[in-house]
Amino acid sequence: MNAILKQLSLDGMARSWRERHALMSALAEAQNASASLEPIKKALELVTQRQPTDAELGAWSAIERRRDEMLSRHDIVQHVDFGAGTRDHIRSADEQRNGGMHRVASVKDLTEPSSHPMWGEFLYYVTRISRPNKVLELGSCVGISAGYITAGLKLNNGGHLWTLEGSPASAELAQQTLDGLYQTPQGTIVVGRFDDTLQDCLDSHGPFDLAFIDGHHDGEATMHYYAQIKRHLAPDAILIFDDVHYSPSMELAWQTIASDPAAHGQLRIRARGVVVI
Ligand SMILES: C[S@@+](CC[C@H](N)C(=O)[O-])C[C@H]1O[C@@H](n2cnc3c(N)ncnc32)[C@H](O)[C@@H]1O
Repeated sequence: MNAILKQLSLDGMARSWRERHALMSALAEAQNASASLEPIKKALELVTQRQPTDAELGAWSAIERRRDEMLSRHDIVQHVDFGAGTRDHIRSADEQRNGGMHRVASVKDLTEPSSHPMWGEFLYYVTRISRPNKVLELGSCVGISAGYITAGLKLNNGGHLWTLEGSPASAELAQQTLDGLYQTPQGTIVVGRFDDTLQDCLDSHGPFDLAFIDGHHDGEATMHYYAQIKRHLAPDAILIFDDVHYSPSMELAWQTIASDPAAHGQLRIRARGVVVI
């Protein structure tokens, strides 16, 4: 193995170890958490302790083969990013309001921000245990987390995911991901900026039982989406926020959401926050 490949696999192992450690620490913390977090506790137990079934292994391997295929692609697409920017360069509120950041990117570049496999498995188990009728995702990217959530819906024999994505290039890859994984995907990709698509999706398809908010990563924007989503939730809905450490504004947004009197259970899983509303 050459030095770069060796480094890559060491990085991969370190990341897997961090993910596993985060899930196990959250499980320890969840032992004393409120009863409303029982589905999250169960999902944490399963992802850290259980041997997957053959059906689960088959579904997850197909998703990971699709990820690997996209990670090996250096072909270039036009990408538009409506998010908060990178940790090294957080875009100003005006820049975010004024529109997306256009750039060329490879398919590999677009795939890299996708959820880690262990986090995907956690989302799968949350879906299996809570058996949501309607699921919402903000930030499809290339369809990896959507693949895990819809794998859970498939094995539940019911439920549907609406996943929102601003970049048409990413949305097209996400569509190909779901089409390649399932004959009849239980997921719909909605293309456009959250500001333009979220309210209509909530009005048309709510109330939602489960939501994964994994796009934009700006505190003010996240609070705005939370206020919109909160009005379209089924009882005991589970909301999962990714990257709550992304910036001071995201940290503040998470603290505000976690202390909302409407939240009757909250748990931190390293950079993610979970609330039951
Ligand atoms: C971290 S990625 C999502 C990863 C994906 N959930 C997964 O785990 O596989 C965030 C995605 O959100 C999209 N996004 C960010 N801000 C957005 C906005 N304001 N409107 C629409 N899409 C947005 C980005 O284009 C990007 O594809």
